[in-house]
Amino acid sequence: MSAHAPIKRLTAPEITARKGGDPLVALTSYHAHTAAIADKYVDFLLVGDSLGMVMHGFETTLPVPLELMIMHGRAVMRGAKRALVVVDMPFGSYEESPSQAFHNAARVIKETQCGAIKLEGGRRMAETIRFLTERGIPVMAHIGLTPQSINVLGGFKTQGRSRNQWEAIEEDARLVTEAGAFCVVLEAMAEPLAAKITRAIAIPTIGIGASAKCDGQILVMEDMLGLSPRVAKFVKEFGSVGKSIEKAIRSYADEVRGRSFPDSAHTYEVKD
Ligand code: KIV
Repeated sequence: MSAHAPIKRLTAPEITARKGGDPLVALTSYHAHTAAIADKYVDFLLVGDSLGMVMHGFETTLPVPLELMIMHGRAVMRGAKRALVVVDMPFGSYEESPSQAFHNAARVIKETQCGAIKLEGGRRMAETIRFLTERGIPVMAHIGLTPQSINVLGGFKTQGRSRNQWEAIEEDARLVTEAGAFCVVLEAMAEPLAAKITRAIAIPTIGIGASAKCDGQILVMEDMLGLSPRVAKFVKEFGSVGKSIEKAIRSYADEVRGRSFPDSAHTYEVKD
């Protein structure tokens, strides 16, 4: 065995052990530089397949290929040194069978060296979650609004608004827990239902548009930074990065056009 690496990343079991404790802090991340910044403050970073919409301009997450997830996963792993990095399995890469899921999830783990994968689905994915965890792949589950099923759900709508939907969603949460998921994302879920599930299951719930009573929260980084052109109503913008970028680019364009752009003699000396 080689010598110990100086920095230890958080692990999936350490995330599970935080159930009912201090809230878990999570963000999505798609690239090395912002991962390095966020790494100081979060418990885990999710390389979400939302990168298809946020970074690549697709209307849904459905077109995202596995290779793109691996490429961004590797970038985030280069940036983050302490947080657990979780990589999303994209649509079509795991649903067919547990062995298809293992084949592709093992590729993600080998090629990115991330600590866990995430996949969408409750009851329908329980067998696959068990198959993967029994074979050494920690799985984060994702229930409620599952964006890869957008064409079946008919839109990005809050789940569990009507009480008669609750039983099926509660069962999803119970089944992914029993199957061995180390935590579960509750996306766009009626608040009292998300709170009830959080009390009922033994693994941490990670809310996104769900409930402040979840064991942790995740947001899409670009949304909370104020960089996304459109965000869901529940998103609080903690910055206005989009406006800052535009202001900086406008100033740059003005300086170039006014020929007042600084002399470039020292540009390759790195600033302190
Ligand atoms: O892809 C993603 O960003 C996600 C989060 C919204 C949880 O799955």
